[in-house]
Amino acid sequence: MAVSAGLADVVAGPTAICDVNGQLGQLFYRGYDIRDLARESSFEEVVWLLWRGELPSASELATFRAELAAQRRLPDQVALMVDRLAAMNATPMPMLRVATTLLQVEDPNADKVAEGAERQASVHLVARFPTILARYQRRHQGLEPVEPSPNADQATAYLTMLHGTPPDELDRQALDILLILLADHEFNASTFTARVIAATLANVYSAIDGAIAALSGPLHGGANEQVMHMLEQIGSASHARSYVENLLAQKKRVMGFGHRVYRSEDPRAGILRQIARELGERKQDTHWFDIATQVEETVWNAKHLYPNVDFYSAPIMHQLGIPTDLFTPTFAVSRVAGWTAHVLEQHANNRLIRPRGDYIGPAPRPYVPLSAR
Ligand code: CMC
Repeated sequence: MAVSAGLADVVAGPTAICDVNGQLGQLFYRGYDIRDLARESSFEEVVWLLWRGELPSASELATFRAELAAQRRLPDQVALMVDRLAAMNATPMPMLRVATTLLQVEDPNADKVAEGAERQASVHLVARFPTILARYQRRHQGLEPVEPSPNADQATAYLTMLHGTPPDELDRQALDILLILLADHEFNASTFTARVIAATLANVYSAIDGAIAALSGPLHGGANEQVMHMLEQIGSASHARSYVENLLAQKKRVMGFGHRVYRSEDPRAGILRQIARELGERKQDTHWFDIATQVEETVWNAKHLYPNVDFYSAPIMHQLGIPTDLFTPTFAVSRVAGWTAHVLEQHANNRLIRPRGDYIGPAPRPYVPLSAR
């Protein structure tokens, strides 16, 4: 049996949702180039596309936006649990998992592995993740939660619930594009986790719970928070080169660089670099962008590694006023769209996912009784 460390280059199954061309640096959702989607569409359009395979008509989009907006409010018990976890100083990723589990408890149809019930659960998850995070953050700061607006789009709703005031158009657009770009990425670690769980015929909430756990690690979604800590430690663009060279001399990884699949630039990183620059210029503070570009140049010169999607996500989220410990949960606000699309696809044509291990332990040997050890 062929063995591939970390399942590198292993094709684990068919999917019609997302295609990554690592050699050419291309990414498609359902056949649409990510660059076109970032420029032309909205997060809500992309969620619909990922779930249903086609772009929505104008009336379908209007109905879907209204459906998401109507579902943003948290069930009382979930809201209370978020408050309690904020009071306990729980970190936001485990808090999001607890809240997801509680959404399952509150859903009488949670265990129905039927498309209608799973689609409804997916609407609940996508609609409520921003409310959960914003409520947690407000409580954590000793502020009153902001009620979800009954007709705002996802990006506006999240930033409004977080900051208490609606974002300006540039901030709204920056977050909307970030949410589009992060929404899916084929069989990445968290999505694959969701599919493995779904393939046991566990329900959509359980799959998403596992996916959040997988996303949290610094080699995956947790990288964006590590990038921000690094930019803060560097402090100014003039220190970036020595900081990075020192890191590499110690054989440490520079967070936000490298990728399992891309062998040329991740198309999302290029779009995000531009947004990070625009936000900095508009806010008359290119400090973070300047540090980031110096880091990028140094890593390229030393290792020929490209930045991945998490690198420029960090200065963007920072400039949108999102606290660093909400960066990875904010990634989940977007990726939950892809996770749920993959659960729906897995359940539509299910087979248990159960690979083999390459046994490297001792050969069969006689049992040694306790008295003889
Ligand atoms: N900094 C320094 N060296 C690196 C880095 C990095 N960020 N990434 C890869 N390398 C080197 C690595 O040391 C190895 O070199 P050598 O062959 O000399 O030992 C070579 O590149 C291949 O690395 P690998 O670990 O075998 O590659 P992988 O495909 O298993 O890992 C990765 C991919 C993303 C885990 C890795 O690039 C990494 O740790 N990056 C930093 C964490 C990060 O930014 N994660 C976000 C991933 S993309 C978006 C997401 O999923 O959220």
